[in-house]
Amino acid sequence: MITKDSLKNQYGIVTGGGGLLAFEHACALLELSCAVVLIDIDKNKLKKNLIKLNSLGYSKIKTYVTDITSEAKLLNLSKKLKNNEIIPNILINNAGLNYSIKNKSKKKKFYFENFDTDYFVRDLNIGLKGSYLCSKIFGNMMKENGKGVILNIASDLSVIAPDQRLYSSLQSKKPVSYSIVKHGLIGLTKYLSTYWASENIRVNALSPGGIYDKQEKIFLKKIKKLIPLKRMLNREEIRATIQYLCTDDSSYMTGQNIILDGGRSIL
Ligand SMILES: NC(=O)c1ccc[n+]([C@@H]2O[C@H](COP(=O)([O-])OP(=O)(O)OC[C@H]3O[C@@H](n4cnc5c(N)ncnc54)[C@H](O)[C@@H]3O)[C@@H](O)[C@H]2O)c1
Repeated sequence: MITKDSLKNQYGIVTGGGGLLAFEHACALLELSCAVVLIDIDKNKLKKNLIKLNSLGYSKIKTYVTDITSEAKLLNLSKKLKNNEIIPNILINNAGLNYSIKNKSKKKKFYFENFDTDYFVRDLNIGLKGSYLCSKIFGNMMKENGKGVILNIASDLSVIAPDQRLYSSLQSKKPVSYSIVKHGLIGLTKYLSTYWASENIRVNALSPGGIYDKQEKIFLKKIKKLIPLKRMLNREEIRATIQYLCTDDSSYMTGQNIILDGGRSIL
Protein backbone atom coordinates (compact mmCIF):
# COMPACT_ATOMS: atom_id res chain seq x y z
CA MET A 1 0.00 0.00 0.00
CA ILE A 2 1.33 3.46 -0.87
CA THR A 3 2.03 5.71 2.14
CA LYS A 4 3.59 9.15 2.44
CA ASP A 5 6.91 7.44 3.24
CA SER A 6 6.84 4.87 0.42
CA LEU A 7 9.86 6.47 -1.27
CA LYS A 8 11.68 7.77 1.82
CA ASN A 9 15.50 7.91 1.44
CA GLN A 10 15.16 7.42 -2.32
CA TYR A 11 16.25 9.64 -5.21
CA GLY A 12 14.23 10.09 -8.38
CA ILE A 13 15.62 11.71 -11.54
CA VAL A 14 13.18 13.44 -13.90
CA THR A 15 14.48 14.52 -17.33
CA GLY A 16 12.90 17.51 -19.01
CA GLY A 17 12.50 18.68 -15.42
CA GLY A 18 11.44 22.20 -16.35
CA GLY A 19 8.40 21.08 -18.33
CA LEU A 20 4.67 20.83 -17.75
CA LEU A 21 4.45 17.14 -16.87
CA ALA A 22 7.79 17.05 -15.04
CA PHE A 23 6.18 19.24 -12.39
CA GLU A 24 3.51 16.57 -11.86
CA HIS A 25 6.07 13.73 -11.83
CA ALA A 26 8.10 15.65 -9.25
CA CYS A 27 5.01 16.24 -7.07
CA ALA A 28 4.12 12.54 -7.33
CA LEU A 29 7.57 11.54 -6.02
CA LEU A 30 7.87 14.31 -3.43
CA GLU A 31 4.41 13.43 -2.00
CA LEU A 32 5.92 10.03 -1.11
CA SER A 33 9.03 11.57 0.53
CA CYS A 34 11.36 10.93 -2.42
CA ALA A 35 14.16 13.43 -3.09
CA VAL A 36 14.00 14.68 -6.66
CA VAL A 37 16.68 15.56 -9.22
CA LEU A 38 15.36 17.65 -12.11
CA ILE A 39 17.45 17.79 -15.30
CA ASP A 40 16.70 20.18 -18.16
CA ILE A 41 18.52 21.98 -20.94
CA ASP A 42 16.53 25.15 -20.17
CA LYS A 43 17.73 26.92 -17.04
CA ASN A 44 14.76 29.28 -16.80
CA LYS A 45 12.13 26.55 -17.06
CA LEU A 46 13.97 24.54 -14.44
CA LYS A 47 14.02 27.55 -12.12
CA LYS A 48 10.28 28.15 -12.61
CA ASN A 49 9.39 24.57 -11.66
CA LEU A 50 11.74 24.72 -8.68
CA ILE A 51 10.09 27.92 -7.40
CA LYS A 52 6.61 26.36 -7.84
CA LEU A 53 7.64 23.20 -5.98
CA ASN A 54 9.30 25.21 -3.19
CA SER A 55 6.13 27.28 -2.84
CA LEU A 56 4.24 24.04 -2.11
CA GLY A 57 6.64 23.38 0.76
CA TYR A 58 8.86 20.82 -1.01
CA SER A 59 12.59 21.27 -0.43
CA LYS A 60 14.26 17.95 -1.32
CA ILE A 61 14.91 19.02 -4.91
CA LYS A 62 18.14 19.45 -6.87
CA THR A 63 18.23 20.95 -10.36
CA TYR A 64 20.89 20.48 -13.03
CA VAL A 65 21.13 22.17 -16.42
CA THR A 66 22.21 19.38 -18.78
CA ASP A 67 21.62 18.35 -22.36
CA ILE A 68 20.51 14.72 -22.22
CA THR A 69 21.64 14.13 -25.80
CA SER A 70 25.28 14.48 -24.72
CA GLU A 71 26.85 11.35 -23.21
CA ALA A 72 29.84 13.38 -21.94
CA LYS A 73 27.58 15.86 -20.12
CA LEU A 74 25.52 13.06 -18.56
CA LEU A 75 28.65 11.25 -17.41
CA ASN A 76 29.84 14.47 -15.86
CA LEU A 77 26.50 14.84 -14.09
CA SER A 78 26.64 11.25 -12.84
CA LYS A 79 30.02 12.05 -11.25
CA LYS A 80 28.55 15.13 -9.56
CA LEU A 81 25.67 13.03 -8.21
CA LYS A 82 28.06 10.40 -6.87
CA ASN A 83 30.16 13.10 -5.19
CA ASN A 84 26.95 14.24 -3.48
CA GLU A 85 26.24 10.60 -2.50
CA ILE A 86 23.19 10.50 -4.77
CA ILE A 87 22.60 7.09 -6.33
CA PRO A 88 19.28 7.22 -8.20
CA ASN A 89 16.54 4.71 -7.36
CA ILE A 90 14.12 6.02 -9.99
CA LEU A 91 14.60 7.50 -13.47
CA ILE A 92 11.71 9.09 -15.34
CA ASN A 93 12.65 9.58 -19.00
CA ASN A 94 10.28 12.46 -19.70
CA ALA A 95 12.15 15.02 -21.85
CA GLY A 96 10.76 15.59 -25.30
CA LEU A 97 10.89 18.10 -28.11
CA ASN A 98 8.03 20.47 -27.51
CA TYR A 99 5.49 20.38 -30.29
CA SER A 100 2.91 23.05 -29.68
CA ILE A 101 -0.35 22.78 -31.55
CA LYS A 102 -1.04 26.37 -30.54
CA ASN A 103 1.58 27.70 -32.98
CA LYS A 104 -0.34 28.73 -36.04
CA SER A 105 1.99 28.64 -38.96
CA LYS A 106 1.81 30.45 -42.25
CA LYS A 107 3.55 27.54 -43.90
CA LYS A 108 1.98 24.10 -43.71
CA LYS A 109 3.78 22.71 -40.70
CA PHE A 110 5.10 19.19 -40.25
CA TYR A 111 3.61 17.85 -43.48
CA PHE A 112 5.43 14.60 -44.27
CA GLU A 113 6.02 15.61 -47.89
CA ASN A 114 8.43 18.39 -46.88
CA PHE A 115 9.27 17.37 -43.33
CA ASP A 116 12.37 19.10 -41.98
CA THR A 117 15.02 16.41 -41.52
CA ASP A 118 16.88 18.49 -38.93
CA TYR A 119 13.72 18.50 -36.81
CA PHE A 120 13.42 14.73 -37.31
CA VAL A 121 16.98 14.17 -36.04
CA ARG A 122 16.54 16.53 -33.08
CA ASP A 123 13.29 14.83 -32.05
CA LEU A 124 14.88 11.36 -32.17
CA ASN A 125 17.98 12.61 -30.38
CA ILE A 126 16.05 14.00 -27.43
CA GLY A 127 13.30 11.37 -27.21
CA LEU A 128 15.24 8.21 -28.04
CA LYS A 129 18.97 8.85 -27.76
CA GLY A 130 18.43 10.90 -24.57
CA SER A 131 16.34 8.14 -22.97
CA TYR A 132 18.85 5.49 -24.02
CA LEU A 133 21.77 7.48 -22.57
CA CYS A 134 20.01 8.31 -19.30
CA SER A 135 18.95 4.68 -18.89
CA LYS A 136 22.49 3.49 -19.58
CA ILE A 137 24.20 5.93 -17.23
CA PHE A 138 21.69 6.20 -14.39
CA GLY A 139 20.48 2.58 -14.72
CA ASN A 140 24.08 1.48 -14.26
CA MET A 141 24.23 3.51 -11.05
CA MET A 142 20.96 1.94 -9.84
CA LYS A 143 22.59 -1.48 -9.92
CA GLU A 144 24.58 -0.37 -6.84
CA ASN A 145 21.27 -0.16 -4.94
CA GLY A 146 20.32 -3.71 -5.92
CA LYS A 147 17.05 -2.47 -7.41
CA GLY A 148 15.55 0.39 -9.37
CA VAL A 149 12.75 1.73 -11.52
CA ILE A 150 12.95 3.24 -15.00
CA LEU A 151 9.80 4.83 -16.35
CA ASN A 152 9.60 6.01 -19.95
CA ILE A 153 7.00 8.66 -20.69
CA ALA A 154 5.55 7.73 -24.06
CA SER A 155 2.08 8.76 -25.31
CA ASP A 156 -1.16 7.27 -26.60
CA LEU A 157 0.65 7.70 -29.92
CA SER A 158 2.92 4.84 -28.87
CA VAL A 159 0.05 2.51 -29.75
CA ILE A 160 -2.16 4.39 -32.22
CA ALA A 161 -1.56 6.61 -35.23
CA PRO A 162 -2.27 10.34 -34.90
CA ASP A 163 -5.65 11.45 -36.19
CA GLN A 164 -4.37 14.22 -38.45
CA ARG A 165 -7.86 15.75 -38.79
CA LEU A 166 -7.29 17.18 -35.29
CA TYR A 167 -4.67 19.58 -36.61
CA SER A 168 -6.26 20.66 -39.90
CA SER A 169 -7.51 24.04 -38.61
CA LEU A 170 -3.92 24.80 -37.56
CA GLN A 171 -2.50 24.06 -41.01
CA SER A 172 -0.36 21.45 -39.26
CA LYS A 173 0.18 17.74 -38.78
CA LYS A 174 1.50 15.72 -35.87
CA PRO A 175 5.17 15.19 -36.78
CA VAL A 176 6.21 11.75 -38.03
CA SER A 177 9.15 11.82 -35.61
CA TYR A 178 6.73 11.92 -32.65
CA SER A 179 5.23 8.56 -33.62
CA ILE A 180 8.68 7.07 -34.17
CA VAL A 181 9.99 8.32 -30.81
CA LYS A 182 6.97 7.10 -28.87
CA HIS A 183 6.87 3.65 -30.52
CA GLY A 184 10.65 3.45 -30.06
CA LEU A 185 10.36 4.11 -26.33
CA ILE A 186 8.21 1.00 -26.01
CA GLY A 187 11.01 -0.98 -27.68
CA LEU A 188 13.50 0.46 -25.20
CA THR A 189 11.12 -0.39 -22.34
CA LYS A 190 10.75 -4.02 -23.41
CA TYR A 191 14.44 -4.47 -24.13
CA LEU A 192 15.62 -3.10 -20.78
CA SER A 193 12.88 -4.84 -18.78
CA THR A 194 14.28 -8.24 -19.67
CA TYR A 195 17.91 -7.13 -19.84
CA TRP A 196 17.94 -5.77 -16.30
CA ALA A 197 15.34 -8.07 -14.70
CA SER A 198 18.20 -9.96 -13.05
CA GLU A 199 19.39 -6.65 -11.52
CA ASN A 200 15.93 -6.06 -10.07
CA ILE A 201 15.46 -2.95 -12.20
CA ARG A 202 11.88 -2.72 -13.40
CA VAL A 203 11.27 -0.83 -16.62
CA ASN A 204 7.82 0.33 -17.72
CA ALA A 205 6.29 2.98 -19.95
CA LEU A 206 3.45 5.36 -19.21
CA SER A 207 1.41 6.54 -22.17
CA PRO A 208 -0.76 9.55 -21.41
CA GLY A 209 -3.30 10.89 -23.87
CA GLY A 210 -3.40 14.62 -24.62
CA ILE A 211 -3.31 16.89 -21.58
CA TYR A 212 -5.33 20.08 -21.16
CA ASP A 213 -3.01 23.02 -21.84
CA LYS A 214 -5.09 25.93 -23.16
CA GLN A 215 -5.71 24.27 -26.53
CA GLU A 216 -7.97 25.98 -29.05
CA LYS A 217 -11.73 25.37 -28.70
CA ILE A 218 -11.99 23.75 -32.12
CA PHE A 219 -9.25 21.26 -31.22
CA LEU A 220 -10.95 20.41 -27.90
CA LYS A 221 -14.29 19.88 -29.65
CA LYS A 222 -12.72 17.49 -32.15
CA ILE A 223 -10.60 15.48 -29.71
CA LYS A 224 -13.49 14.94 -27.27
CA LYS A 225 -15.26 12.99 -29.98
CA LEU A 226 -12.33 10.55 -30.15
CA ILE A 227 -12.22 9.81 -26.41
CA PRO A 228 -14.80 7.57 -24.69
CA LEU A 229 -14.48 9.59 -21.43
CA LYS A 230 -15.14 12.70 -23.59
CA ARG A 231 -12.31 14.83 -22.23
CA MET A 232 -8.54 15.25 -22.21
CA LEU A 233 -6.35 14.39 -19.23
CA ASN A 234 -6.01 16.84 -16.34
CA ARG A 235 -2.28 17.14 -15.65
CA GLU A 236 -2.51 16.17 -11.96
CA GLU A 237 -4.37 12.95 -12.86
CA ILE A 238 -1.02 11.50 -13.92
CA ARG A 239 0.39 11.50 -10.38
CA ALA A 240 -1.33 8.36 -9.03
CA THR A 241 -0.07 6.25 -11.94
CA ILE A 242 3.46 7.63 -11.53
CA GLN A 243 3.33 6.70 -7.85
CA TYR A 244 2.03 3.22 -8.59
CA LEU A 245 4.73 2.55 -11.19
CA CYS A 246 7.57 3.98 -9.07
CA THR A 247 6.78 2.16 -5.81
CA ASP A 248 6.75 -1.48 -4.76
CA ASP A 249 2.97 -1.46 -5.31
CA SER A 250 3.88 -2.42 -8.88
CA SER A 251 6.65 -4.81 -7.78
CA TYR A 252 5.56 -7.55 -10.21
CA MET A 253 5.15 -5.25 -13.19
CA THR A 254 7.87 -4.81 -15.77
CA GLY A 255 8.06 -4.32 -19.53
CA GLN A 256 4.54 -2.88 -19.68
CA ASN A 257 3.04 0.16 -21.34
CA ILE A 258 0.32 1.67 -19.14
CA ILE A 259 -2.09 3.66 -21.25
CA LEU A 260 -3.83 6.59 -19.57
CA ASP A 261 -5.96 7.92 -22.38
CA GLY A 262 -9.62 7.98 -21.37
CA GLY A 263 -10.13 4.94 -23.61
CA ARG A 264 -9.10 6.63 -26.86
CA SER A 265 -6.78 3.85 -28.04
CA ILE A 266 -9.33 1.04 -27.74
CA LEU A 267 -11.72 2.50 -30.31
N1 LIG B 1 1.64 17.37 -22.81
C1 LIG B 1 0.96 16.35 -23.34
O1 LIG B 1 -0.23 16.49 -23.75
C2 LIG B 1 1.61 15.00 -23.47
C3 LIG B 1 0.82 13.89 -23.78
C4 LIG B 1 1.42 12.64 -23.90
C5 LIG B 1 2.79 12.51 -23.71
N2 LIG B 1 3.54 13.62 -23.41
C6 LIG B 1 4.97 13.44 -23.23
O2 LIG B 1 5.33 13.83 -21.91
C7 LIG B 1 6.64 14.36 -21.90
C8 LIG B 1 6.62 15.75 -21.26
O3 LIG B 1 5.74 16.57 -22.00
P1 LIG B 1 5.45 18.07 -21.59
O4 LIG B 1 4.12 18.42 -22.17
O5 LIG B 1 5.67 18.26 -20.14
O6 LIG B 1 6.56 18.82 -22.44
P2 LIG B 1 7.36 20.16 -22.11
O7 LIG B 1 7.77 20.74 -23.41
O8 LIG B 1 6.59 21.02 -21.17
O9 LIG B 1 8.66 19.62 -21.35
C9 LIG B 1 9.71 18.99 -22.02
C10 LIG B 1 11.01 19.48 -21.38
O10 LIG B 1 12.11 18.78 -21.98
C11 LIG B 1 13.19 19.68 -22.01
N3 LIG B 1 14.22 19.27 -22.96
C12 LIG B 1 14.17 19.34 -24.33
N4 LIG B 1 15.31 18.92 -24.85
C13 LIG B 1 16.13 18.58 -23.82
C14 LIG B 1 17.46 18.10 -23.74
N5 LIG B 1 18.18 17.88 -24.84
N6 LIG B 1 17.99 17.85 -22.52
C15 LIG B 1 17.26 18.07 -21.40
N7 LIG B 1 16.00 18.54 -21.42
C16 LIG B 1 15.44 18.80 -22.61
C17 LIG B 1 12.55 21.01 -22.40
O11 LIG B 1 13.39 22.13 -22.10
C18 LIG B 1 11.26 20.99 -21.58
O12 LIG B 1 11.40 21.65 -20.35
C19 LIG B 1 7.12 14.38 -23.35
O13 LIG B 1 7.91 13.23 -23.60
C20 LIG B 1 5.81 14.32 -24.13
O14 LIG B 1 5.96 13.76 -25.40
C21 LIG B 1 2.98 14.85 -23.28
